[in-house]
Amino acid sequence: MRITQDVFQKMRDDGEKIAIVTCYDASFATLLERAGVDILLVGDSLGNVIQGEETTLPVTLDDMIYHTLCVKRGSSTAFIMTDMPFGTSQVSPEETLRNAAELMAAGANMVKIEGGSLMAETVEFLTQRGIPVCAHIGLTPQSVNQLGGYKVQGKTDNEAGQLLEDAVALEQAGAGMLLMEVVPAALAAQVTRTLSIPTIGIGAGKDCSAQVLVLYDMLGIYSGKKARFMKNFLTGAGSIEEAVQNYIRAVKAGEFPGAEHTF
Ligand code: KIV
Repeated sequence: MRITQDVFQKMRDDGEKIAIVTCYDASFATLLERAGVDILLVGDSLGNVIQGEETTLPVTLDDMIYHTLCVKRGSSTAFIMTDMPFGTSQVSPEETLRNAAELMAAGANMVKIEGGSLMAETVEFLTQRGIPVCAHIGLTPQSVNQLGGYKVQGKTDNEAGQLLEDAVALEQAGAGMLLMEVVPAALAAQVTRTLSIPTIGIGAGKDCSAQVLVLYDMLGIYSGKKARFMKNFLTGAGSIEEAVQNYIRAVKAGEFPGAEHTF
């Protein structure tokens, strides 16, 4: 039986940190599940780390369906969250529902959608029809062309206020989790205190309910410049599985991310 969303709400309510890693294939799904990762994120970062693209924009719905199927086949209990790729959620709520349904049929237990308050209507439409949604705000890589690069978000008072408003609107719309990417730790902590759903951080400080890292970054396979929030957990570990266990332990103990990984 697969873990269900309510388990993560309880972990958040009990103050237990949630450890998430991206996963794109069956072999790693087996290894990550055995190591004890709480959620496998089939991220559209597969565009970068698997397909060698510069951005996540070329990733298609069929790509996400294929990799979700692979991850599902390699795991038996893990909760699978799958990204809705560029162009599949920036459409009408009805069309987004059709796209999300294909991901759910492939094995996703929750879909992740990038965007702020503008996506609230879509989030409400999906969650009212049985599709759990994680909303993704802050640095949203699908909007890299508009953001002008991969920069820290929410630095000014205006931006911070907007991010907090977005978070509240998305929770009210029914989002079951909220991911914040590359935002100041103090702002992520404020959002986490304000919301009742689990928050997931990547480059968002240690106070989020959960942490996520891209698998390849966690294993020190950086394609380009190492971002501040990354940590190579393979250093000092005897195996990949031990590296993953070290990551989980560090997240659960509140030791990762440290100040050196934080904005
Ligand atoms: O696609 C992905 O891997 C993600 C994480 C960076 C959060 O969305």
